Amino acid sequence: MSVKYTPVQWNNNKWIYDAIMLAGVGLFLYIFLYAAPGILSHERPINPQVHNARAFGACAFVMMTVILCIGPLARLDERFLPLLYNRRHFGVMTVFVAITHASYIVDWYFAFSMSNKYEALLFANTSYGQLKGFPFEAFGIFALAVLIILAATSHDFWMKFLSPPVWKRIHYLIYPAYLAVVAHVSLGILQDQQNHAFTWLFAGGALTVGVLHLLAALKERARDQALSVAGADWIDVAGVDEFEDGFAKVRLLPDGDRVAVYLMDGKLSAISNACAHQNGPLGEGRVIDCLVTCPWHGFQYDVRSGRSPAPFTEMVPTYNLRLQGQTVQVDPKANPPGTPVDPIAIPQGAVT
Ligand code: HEM
Ligand code: FES
Repeated sequence: MSVKYTPVQWNNNKWIYDAIMLAGVGLFLYIFLYAAPGILSHERPINPQVHNARAFGACAFVMMTVILCIGPLARLDERFLPLLYNRRHFGVMTVFVAITHASYIVDWYFAFSMSNKYEALLFANTSYGQLKGFPFEAFGIFALAVLIILAATSHDFWMKFLSPPVWKRIHYLIYPAYLAVVAHVSLGILQDQQNHAFTWLFAGGALTVGVLHLLAALKERARDQALSVAGADWIDVAGVDEFEDGFAKVRLLPDGDRVAVYLMDGKLSAISNACAHQNGPLGEGRVIDCLVTCPWHGFQYDVRSGRSPAPFTEMVPTYNLRLQGQTVQVDPKANPPGTPVDPIAIPQGAVT
């Protein structure tokens, strides 16, 4: 692999992304705290401590909303893909903002209790049976615990240690956490509102997350239905004239996996569409000198063997191809990761 292989290290894009993210957080907090304190705070703040807590809580909610919009946006329109690259930093930053919110709350609302403030946080209100006065803090505690776990396991080390499927399952907890934040706010400050600007921001944010996920799921279902051919031995990928040199055609297989079939220098090779790093879409990467670069973080694979060039060791499964007349077909049974397969040549003049 080349020296350009910088999967999760610092690079210019990450600096720019992080700078924009920090500027956004700073701007939001500045507006909430100083520029227009009356607009976003739901009532006149009792004191700076509470005002700060509200500003950081609202900021953490907006950040979670943005993070959850990035995934479906990238599935709906690939121009949003670059936003996926650095979601991890965004997530870690969100945790710090949420912790700041919770710290202000604990240090103000629970600091004057007879018992320890953390005990008071957990046990001062246990009226779980009623809506009015429901201990909505419990949802905040759950959400914060999940956010901390996700941030703590966000490093690549944990993905390798836990294996990508387990890691992914753990990270799906972001959805229950977001629902918990929605409950935290709905049962908390929305019960006692004087200013509706935050209500609109909150409802608009939560609705956008829901609608974008629905649209992305509908789009994928429609594509999957169009592509799915259950039980076939060999599956049509596309006509030879539909391939473009250096690019892939992606095909859904009956088992739900996707294969990426690449044309380079008049020959076809097929590997799994899911990157070994974080399941990034390899079929959207370009092939140069037989190496495809994952568009998410830059891992590279030789499309003839599914292996990352030395010294890297990542591998993805390969697939066997054949030509039936002018149609390229794939055997849906994947070869073990890293199995070399001879590329198949396609008739001269068939490529656009
Ligand atoms: C230990 C965890 C948490 C506790 C104890 C807690 C507690 C509270 C309390 C008491 C309020 C009402 C403040 C007021 O008087 O206006 C509040 C508001 C809020 N919290 Fe939390 N919270 C926690 C975690 C979170 C997390 C993780 C998020 C989001 C990611 C969050 C988002 C919010 C939002 C958006 C508000 C409304 C802010 C506003 O008034 O404008 N909270 N929280
Ligand atoms: S390089 Fe990260 S998902 Fe492919």
